Amino acid sequence: MSDPATLLSPERVLVVGGGGRENSLAWALARSQGVAAVWVAPGNGGTADIAGCQQLAIAETDAAGLLAACKTHAIDLVVVGPEAPLAAGLGDHLRAAGLAVFGPGADGAQLEASKQWAKALMVEAAIPTAGYWPADSREQALAILEGQNRPLVVKADGLAAGKGVTVADSLAESRAAIEEIFAGRFGGAGASLVLEERTEGPEVSVFALCDGERMVVLPPAQDHKRIGEGDTGPNTGGMGAYAPAPMLAGAALEAVRQRVLEPTLAALKARGIEYRGVIYAGLMLTPTGLSVIEFNCRFGDPECETLMPLLGPELAQVLLACALGRLDKAPVLTIAPRCSACVIAAAGGYPGEVRRGDRIESSLESRADLQLFHAGSQRLADGSTVTSGGRVLAVVAQGDDFDAAFAAAYAGLALVHFEGITYRHDIGHQVRRT
Ligand code: AMP
Ligand code: GLY
Repeated sequence: MSDPATLLSPERVLVVGGGGRENSLAWALARSQGVAAVWVAPGNGGTADIAGCQQLAIAETDAAGLLAACKTHAIDLVVVGPEAPLAAGLGDHLRAAGLAVFGPGADGAQLEASKQWAKALMVEAAIPTAGYWPADSREQALAILEGQNRPLVVKADGLAAGKGVTVADSLAESRAAIEEIFAGRFGGAGASLVLEERTEGPEVSVFALCDGERMVVLPPAQDHKRIGEGDTGPNTGGMGAYAPAPMLAGAALEAVRQRVLEPTLAALKARGIEYRGVIYAGLMLTPTGLSVIEFNCRFGDPECETLMPLLGPELAQVLLACALGRLDKAPVLTIAPRCSACVIAAAGGYPGEVRRGDRIESSLESRADLQLFHAGSQRLADGSTVTSGGRVLAVVAQGDDFDAAFAAAYAGLALVHFEGITYRHDIGHQVRRT
C-alpha cells in the first residue's frame, strides 16, 4: 500500500443510506476539496438534485452489491450513514476488500447495537452514566424491578429503530415494558435488556470523528425529539435541531471530550477494536453533572443535516484520514463560527402511520447558507417527487445568530409544500428571542 499521506484526498466517494443524514453528508462531501463525484446508495427523491451526486439503486443492506459498486466506480472512500448495516458488518466486509471505510466494524457498532455491552464499557471506563442492571430473562428483570421498588427506565438490548426505550413513571409501566420486550416486541432485539435509573435534564448530542486512536470533536447539537410544540407528545426520530448548542460551550465541551469521548475510544481500543467512524454521545446534563444516555455508532439525524453546512472543505480528507487510521495526516477541519438551524417537515400522521405518495412542490432555491435535504421522498418515473416516509425533508439555514438562522429556515420551509405537511414552529425555542 502506498504512503497514506498521498491517499488523503478522496476523489470518488460512496455514501451508504437513504435519509436526510445521507443527503447532507453527500452534499458536504461533494463540495469538499478534491472530491470529483459522490454516489449515494440507495439515496432518496432529492439525491440526484445535489450537485456532484449520483444515485445508485442498491439497498444499504446489500453488502455484495455495494462492494461491486465500489469496484465499478473506483471508490476511494465509503461513508456508511445508518447503524443497521454497520452492526451487520458492512464496514468489515468492505474493509476486507481493501476499501477505506468511515464507519466502525460490527465489533465497534456494539456501542449502539447492544445497550448491555455499551453500559459495561462505560462502567469499565468510568464514564458518567446512570446506574443500571442488565437482565437476560423476564424473571430476572422483574426481580430486579421488585428489589428496587421504584420505576426504572427499560431499554431493549439491541437495535430497535429508536423505539426500544421506555421512560416509565410507575412500577406498572416498567413491568409492562419488561413483559413486552420478553414477549418479543423487538424480535431478537428483545432477548435481553437493561434497566436503568431515571435521570433528568436537558439532552444534547456530541459527535467525535475517530480514526481508532485520535478524534475531531464537532460542535454540540440540540435535537428536538417530541412531535409537539413545547416538547410535548410522542417521541420521533427528531423534528429539528440547532448547533452549536450553547449549553455545552467551550470548557463544557472539552469536559465531554476528556470525560466521555476519549475514555470511550480508549476502552474500545483496549478491547482490540479499531473504531474508525463517528461516536455519537447522547448526553444529559443532570443536576449532578454530565451523564451518557446512549452511544450511537453513526451521525444523528437531524443533527447531521444541521452540522454539515458548518464544516469546511477538508471534510472528505478528514473522513478518509479516519478511515485509514491517520487523522494525524489530515488537515484541520475548519468549522464556521455561525449558527445553524434545521427544521424537519414530516408527513401527516407522523410518528404514527403516515400518508405517502403526496406530491412535493418546492420553489426553494438553495443558497450558500440555505439547504433543502430530502429524506422520506421518492422520485417517480414522470420526474415528480412524492412523500414516501415519516420525515420527508429538512430545511437548514445558517446565520450570524439563531434568530437569523431560524427565520431563514422557516422562510425556506414556507416555499415547500405537500399535502399533510407537519412541522414544529418552535424549533430552537431554547435559543431564539423571536
Ligand atoms: P435512547 O434510545 O437510549 O436515546 O433513549 C431515548 C430517550 O429516552 C432519550 O433521548 C431520553 O430522553 C430517554 N432516556 C433514556 N435513558 C434515560 C434515563 N436513564 N433517564 C431518563 N430518560 C432517559
Ligand atoms: N436525532 C437522534 C438520532 O439520530 O438518533
